[in-house]
Amino acid sequence: MTGTLSATRPQQSTNRRSGNVVLQTQALTKRYGERLAVNNLDLAVYQGDIFGFLGPNGAGKTTTIRMALGLITPTSGSVEVLGQEVQQHRAAVLPRVGALVETPALYLYMSGRDNLRAVASVLGGVPEARLDYVLDLVGLAGRDKDRVRTYSLGMKQRLGVAIALLNDPDLLVLDEPANGLDPAGIVEMRDLMRRLAAEGKTVFISSHVLTEVRQICTRVAILAQGKLVTETTIDELVKGHGEFVVTLEPAYLNEALALVRQQPWGTRARVDAVTNALITSAPQGHGRDLNLFLVQAGFAPDGLTPQTQDLEQVFLQLTGTDPKNGKVEKQS
Ligand SMILES: Nc1ncnc2c1ncn2[C@@H]1O[C@H](COP(=O)(O)OP(=O)(O)O)[C@@H](O)[C@H]1O
Ligand SMILES: [Mg+2]
Repeated sequence: MTGTLSATRPQQSTNRRSGNVVLQTQALTKRYGERLAVNNLDLAVYQGDIFGFLGPNGAGKTTTIRMALGLITPTSGSVEVLGQEVQQHRAAVLPRVGALVETPALYLYMSGRDNLRAVASVLGGVPEARLDYVLDLVGLAGRDKDRVRTYSLGMKQRLGVAIALLNDPDLLVLDEPANGLDPAGIVEMRDLMRRLAAEGKTVFISSHVLTEVRQICTRVAILAQGKLVTETTIDELVKGHGEFVVTLEPAYLNEALALVRQQPWGTRARVDAVTNALITSAPQGHGRDLNLFLVQAGFAPDGLTPQTQDLEQVFLQLTGTDPKNGKVEKQS
């Protein structure tokens, strides 16, 4: 590759959209009687994505995943995995996909390793070295000979991920892998996701808790009542509107606000009622120019940061699960 880092960066973000599509749904729909569990869903997951599939309980995540795995038939629309229509090419596609849908089916009286061996024999044999490898990857190497009955829920989930990884899949689909885990279990699961990402795996991971996946996902889709609300990056989700949060000596606050409001860039300045911080745009949109302006006017800030939106709040608003906001935002 030639060129400087700064020259190549923007290119990467546009190029990646033309990479290999690993999972694609088109107008995917599943109806149960009157209820549209999945409603006209268009999604594209690209190779190397750690794709967060988010939405509150009942949004249609598991139904979508079941269709993607060929476990149930769409009412209409299509789902392609690794370039092939799932319903028509199950036998070709499914061996290249690893999946953990809800809780894994495990033999509790057997050891973790023997559970892996049992699945390996169904797969037609997997080298013992591969078992060692996946056990190590999911952090169960030291506990592989213990009966699964003695495992924590988090360990069982990670064993489920190990099973999904046995055949070295091109796509790993995990349906709420952190569901029901305690905080330590969630941290372990998140570390595991990071290791998978570092391996270059494409991971499709569903969750009803946005903060669970925020640090690991390259892209997220948000689903509410069967419909796609948005498909974007976490950065985009929390991006504010180019405003800054300025903390000032409380005694200066009103004077500073009045002065800023007189500036062409500061007419929408206001004070946050909760934090008592000054919220304002900046000259040319530059925080450093805002800082300079305030310093020169005699109001040196104690702090100045770009404003971001609270991620959980964004999620609640988008999915309409916040009782204060009520409705799901419709997209046309
Ligand atoms: N087999 C089924 N029969 C009838 N309704 C179903 C069935 N499976 C799911 N649903 C309904 O479809 C909607 C989406 O469910 P699901 O995909 O499980 O949501 P999520 O996984 O996001 O919690 C829910 O309203 C659920 O009750
Ligand atoms: Mg579900």
